Amino acid sequence: MAANDEDTSKRRRLDVKMPTLQLLNGTTIPALGLGTFGGSDPPHIMAEAVRKALELGYRSFDCAECYGNELELGVEFSRFLASGASKREELFVASKVWNTNHSPEHVREACLNTLQNLQVKYLDLYLLHWPMAWEYVGKAPFSTSVPRDDQGRPKLARIALHRTWAAMEALVDEGKVKHIGISNFTALLLGDLLNYARIPPACNQVEMTPYLQQRNLLEMCRRNGVILAAYCPLGRRELLQETAVQRIATAHGTSPAAVVLAWAVTRGTLVLPKSSNAERLAENLSACELQLRLDDMRDLDSLECGKRIDTFAAQNGCIFID
Ligand code: A2P
Repeated sequence: MAANDEDTSKRRRLDVKMPTLQLLNGTTIPALGLGTFGGSDPPHIMAEAVRKALELGYRSFDCAECYGNELELGVEFSRFLASGASKREELFVASKVWNTNHSPEHVREACLNTLQNLQVKYLDLYLLHWPMAWEYVGKAPFSTSVPRDDQGRPKLARIALHRTWAAMEALVDEGKVKHIGISNFTALLLGDLLNYARIPPACNQVEMTPYLQQRNLLEMCRRNGVILAAYCPLGRRELLQETAVQRIATAHGTSPAAVVLAWAVTRGTLVLPKSSNAERLAENLSACELQLRLDDMRDLDSLECGKRIDTFAAQNGCIFID
């Protein structure tokens, strides 16, 4: 952390014109938001990151019950709103239901718990975190652990996705969430969901980088009015070492991170970089103003190699087949 990282007097709101994406019902959402999966950062560090991000002008936050920090993040949202700096409707707060809470009554229980922790009356978006159901392990704080059998594999639960989705739809009916969506759904699973959904998903959040561009899925999302959102968009920094990325950054007088994020925004996808550092938070926000050229986009597109950086799926028996 830089020496002046805590000096809020030096951290003023950036004057960045934020591009937006439009949901099917006309609601607009910022094209860039803060990913709040802290990784090795403990909850209080991620909460500080949210405070810094709010001050800088971030208005979209991607949370999840399994990140284990919603309670701490909620304190920051509540403080910020109480300060009068923004109205609730100017924030876009998303969260996700964990794999152990797929049965309809647990979907509702998990959502109410998240609302309480984040200190908001409604969520702007609630996502089904993974298309795989695991055994229920009790209420929060236990609800987000991974139930494992004696060979270390996650214990599956026999709950069909359509039942979980119906419970998500009921949360919209009840006014607890404005929109519902999915995460880690392949094109095949999305196609199936669209066959039975009474309320179609507003968003699908997947790992997406120049290495893993999700072209088929993006095409399918576009055809069906589903926003495709990118987690792990910097490839946990790996992308920043790419020669093409560094060359484009130098040519534009900007950072490699801004280039990778601008690539995502230019494609019309939602991008959710995580940082807990004020300077890097600002750098990432500035990506919204970077105008990449066609040849920059082409060079970044040529990095496609199908490489997945996030190891969670592979470690837990989820195979991605388009
Ligand atoms: P930090 O939180 O210390 O800034 P991803 O969003 O792909 O999951 O990547 C997150 C990782 O990238 C974190 O380790 C984060 O570290 C780092 N990171 C975020 N923004 C930048 C940036 N602008 N430059 C370099 N590293 C960054």
